[in-house]
Amino acid sequence: MTIIAVLNSKGGCGKTTISTNLARSLQKRGYKVLLVDTDHAQTSARDWHAAKEDNPLPCIALDRPNNFKSLTSVATSYDFVVVDGAAKLEDIIATAVKSSDFVLIPVQPSPYDLWAASDLVDLIKTRQSITEGKPKAAFVISRAIDGTKLGREIQAALAEYELPVLSTPITQRQIYAQTASRGESVIDSKNTEAIAELEAVMEEILKYANN
Ligand SMILES: Nc1ncnc2c1ncn2[C@@H]1O[C@H](COP(=O)(O)OP(=O)(O)O)[C@@H](O)[C@H]1O
Ligand SMILES: [Mg+2]
Repeated sequence: MTIIAVLNSKGGCGKTTISTNLARSLQKRGYKVLLVDTDHAQTSARDWHAAKEDNPLPCIALDRPNNFKSLTSVATSYDFVVVDGAAKLEDIIATAVKSSDFVLIPVQPSPYDLWAASDLVDLIKTRQSITEGKPKAAFVISRAIDGTKLGREIQAALAEYELPVLSTPITQRQIYAQTASRGESVIDSKNTEAIAELEAVMEEILKYANN
């Protein structure tokens, strides 16, 4: 069982989009997957789940740190648990960092988004220092504009955090919003570029999470 948490206190950076898509693509790979919504203000993952009747992906809400602690026992019957993080640096984020094997941090390619990640990075590093490196963590560039390169300033700012950055960015594409409104993933669509991008991201995450 592997717990992957998609965390960043900044709203709108793509946590729910990435969580739902990652969870569905792992499920399509044949893994047993549970999606966990920790965002009690937005409840977007729950809304996503409810938008599709007979949604094949199980989704539960855990939005209190105490409830979250019970996740480890629920999680044992799954291969992967994907945790969709809350906005703001709440207790639930700290609990998620403690409980997860891998933290994925989506950041939009803007300095504000990078600065906003510093508290989370501190939290992860403090945890890693007392656990011999758990959870592992990496950034993924989210909502990147297709065809544009990551600016040098952004690269430098990311490098300062000393955490890996996935080599595949998630591109800003209408298909992410379109499929979300149906409670689906781009993996359920015919958009080959989006599917390829998502699968590449999944492969990279699997490498980190399994090592
Ligand atoms: N890669 C993307 N391409 C297009 N729209 C996106 C993408 N990622 C997120 N969005 C849109 O941006 C908004 C915020 O994304 P969301 O995943 O809800 O972020 P968060 O969970 O971090 O608040 C949503 O309307 C979502 O559909
Ligand atoms: Mg969200």
